[in-house]
Amino acid sequence: MKQSFKITVIGTGSMGKQHVEGWQLAGHNVVSVVDLNLDAAREVASKFGVGTVLADYKEAINDPDIDIASICLPLKFHAPVTIYAAQQGKHVFCEKPLTSSTEHARAMEEAVREAGVQFGVGFQRTYAQDTALFRRLANDGELGRPLFFNSENLAEVRPKIAMHDAFGNMGPVMDVCCHSFFLWRTVFGSRAKTAYASGRVFAKDRPELDSLQQRAVDTASIVVEYESGDTGAMTVSWGLPKKTKIRTRCADRIIGPKGAVEAIGGGKWNVYIGDQIESLELQHGHLHEKQFRAFAQCLQEGTPYPVGLREGKEILALTEAVFRSIDSGRTEPVIYDAD
Ligand SMILES: NC(=O)c1ccc[n+]([C@@H]2O[C@H](COP(=O)([O-])OP(=O)(O)OC[C@H]3O[C@@H](n4cnc5c(N)ncnc54)[C@H](O)[C@@H]3O)[C@@H](O)[C@H]2O)c1
Repeated sequence: MKQSFKITVIGTGSMGKQHVEGWQLAGHNVVSVVDLNLDAAREVASKFGVGTVLADYKEAINDPDIDIASICLPLKFHAPVTIYAAQQGKHVFCEKPLTSSTEHARAMEEAVREAGVQFGVGFQRTYAQDTALFRRLANDGELGRPLFFNSENLAEVRPKIAMHDAFGNMGPVMDVCCHSFFLWRTVFGSRAKTAYASGRVFAKDRPELDSLQQRAVDTASIVVEYESGDTGAMTVSWGLPKKTKIRTRCADRIIGPKGAVEAIGGGKWNVYIGDQIESLELQHGHLHEKQFRAFAQCLQEGTPYPVGLREGKEILALTEAVFRSIDSGRTEPVIYDAD
């Protein structure tokens, strides 16, 4: 059984660095890094001692030594690079969100299935201790049922303007809400049934986005009902004023008939059961290291990685329902593709 895999990390921006570090901490060998911006790639290579720097992802993937392509590129490249890597017989670990449409997701799925390779998608919070706490409280019935899960993600206009491109990364509803959608699904142990959302472009007059053909919805209020009877709700904005002093990541909070749990900041969580309160401190560790250890273990044991195309497609189906609801002004059903 192979103990250590050889990896190419494609894209060396914010997430690329995390992937290089995560793979190395997990005991694997990052053989090459790839970026069109060669200076950025060289900097990452030098920081982490990676031997090969390339601009062309195909060249990196074609290296016969490579076992895994670790994709940290903007959204529109997730499908084509996954498909290319799978066709070369490489396992793929791709950053979230899976891709921008069900059509692309199907093409990724077909390529992965035909090649018989493994595919993982980067929802690293799966390995966080608060996720385990929330799951335990939900599954043990300590909070009662139904549950209402509230999340929030607030920020000023993103410095990476591609994040606001309606034809690029598609704004926070696509780029960041997927983390909450995945968390709610995990905690409820259930699939989303319907979504209602109201969405706006707060940054419609912001000159730094003038080069975009169309600005994505940057602010939304979203309510999702689950087959389990539980509800997830969130407010998200990437349209707040520059240097806003509001807390940009506010507490995740779950309430149920018997109790509640909330993040109170500083690595602390409060659990309220009846009239009792318990404060917990949780250490997450390096979530990418944990995620890559789990992925590598699945390769070694030949078992499917539990956060893959099926799960990515499920989150995409919910995201699509949210966008449809923003357009229609109505509650929309979540329409799942056949497995
Ligand atoms: N899991 C998480 O918590 C998390 C956090 C942030 C971003 N992400 C995801 O990671 C992905 C990348 O985001 P990021 O913030 O690292 O973006 P980024 O803009 O910081 O980095 C992307 C890099 O890809 C390079 N690039 C673009 N097109 C390329 C191509 N065709 N070939 C080679 N290099 C190319 C760019 O030069 C850039 O350096 C996105 O899907 C994003 O949603 C995940």
